[in-house]
Amino acid sequence: MTINFKSLCNEYVQGVNPYIPGKPISELQRELGLTRISKLASNENPLGCSPIAVEAMQKAALDIARYPDGNSYQLRDALAEFWKVRSNQILLGNGSNEVLELIARTFAGSGDEIIFSQYAFAVYEISTQLVGATPIKVPAKGFAHDLEAMASAITDNTKIIYIANPNNPTGTVFDQSVWNEFIVKVPKNVLVVVDEAYIEYAQAKMVNDYPDVMQDLESYPNILITRTFSKAYGLAGLRIGALIAQSEVIDLIQRVREPFNVNAMAQAGALAALQDQAFIKQSIVLNNQGMQQIEDFLNEKGINFIESYGNFITARFKNASQLNQELLKEGVIVRPQAGYGMTDYLRISIGSETENQHFIEALTKLA
Ligand SMILES: Cc1ncc(COP(=O)(O)O)c(C=O)c1O
Repeated sequence: MTINFKSLCNEYVQGVNPYIPGKPISELQRELGLTRISKLASNENPLGCSPIAVEAMQKAALDIARYPDGNSYQLRDALAEFWKVRSNQILLGNGSNEVLELIARTFAGSGDEIIFSQYAFAVYEISTQLVGATPIKVPAKGFAHDLEAMASAITDNTKIIYIANPNNPTGTVFDQSVWNEFIVKVPKNVLVVVDEAYIEYAQAKMVNDYPDVMQDLESYPNILITRTFSKAYGLAGLRIGALIAQSEVIDLIQRVREPFNVNAMAQAGALAALQDQAFIKQSIVLNNQGMQQIEDFLNEKGINFIESYGNFITARFKNASQLNQELLKEGVIVRPQAGYGMTDYLRISIGSETENQHFIEALTKLA
């Protein structure tokens, strides 16, 4: 007897377009047997992570037979001090990806609407679909979020608005004045999730213009902020991210969160990494230099790109899909953007000088 598993599957899950991650280095090695590979596909930190974090994780490994602290007490305490909020305003997740999904699972369901921008991080749509809510995709302005149009898209059914600043995959940002105009328009019963995965890079570039959303948490209790240790902190493989919100919001999401969702190594690594702000500064300097290196090259070649405030740059190519395949053969992994409806675009993460050079050489050879 053949079983129709699809008919057994939750109808919301049937409709999900699976997330397509960047190609792992080991996969390309297996496929093509290459020795020189530069992965510029997942916006990781080319510097690695803080050596202090590595040491803390090595120490934590010695006690790995024990379950982790399910409340991540020490780390939440340290983050509360760092962000100047109370520790009961912080919830941690297995990457900020989990946090983004937990928000939808806690607050939205069938009949609710979730708003996000046309070119927005894929997880917003997946989280919406998984809870059977209706995605409302608001056309982008250029490639950036159109916050005015997003506010106008709010209806009585709107539960959540997901906004990334800077945005992935476009690298665009909105500034303090645009944010101020937007947040006053949002009814208090609509949750505004501001995903600040790339904040460290944008803040360094925009200085005082980068919106201080955290400061608005008390005046606008419907604000939820997500942060991650995967980007500037260089701990993507560890899977740890955070939510900062009102304690009542955190308390509700705690009911949905799996008790040990943040493992012991992640807690130890993140706690140590937080102490090493010199590493973050170093990562930003390297990113600025790498961004300049890639921008100079693209300008020289006359290749259009979207100005980015993150650790990646999205550029337009004639045959993006074919070029992606050819770059893979040269050992360079970038990220095609067809899944976002940007068929002519490739997103290139900023790597080390040598990795960027590898991309430049490969493209020069191919183009
Ligand atoms: C805008 C944005 N938000 C969230 C994430 C998720 O990061 P993580 O789950 O590693 O914290 C990413 C990852 O690429 C991202 O680009």
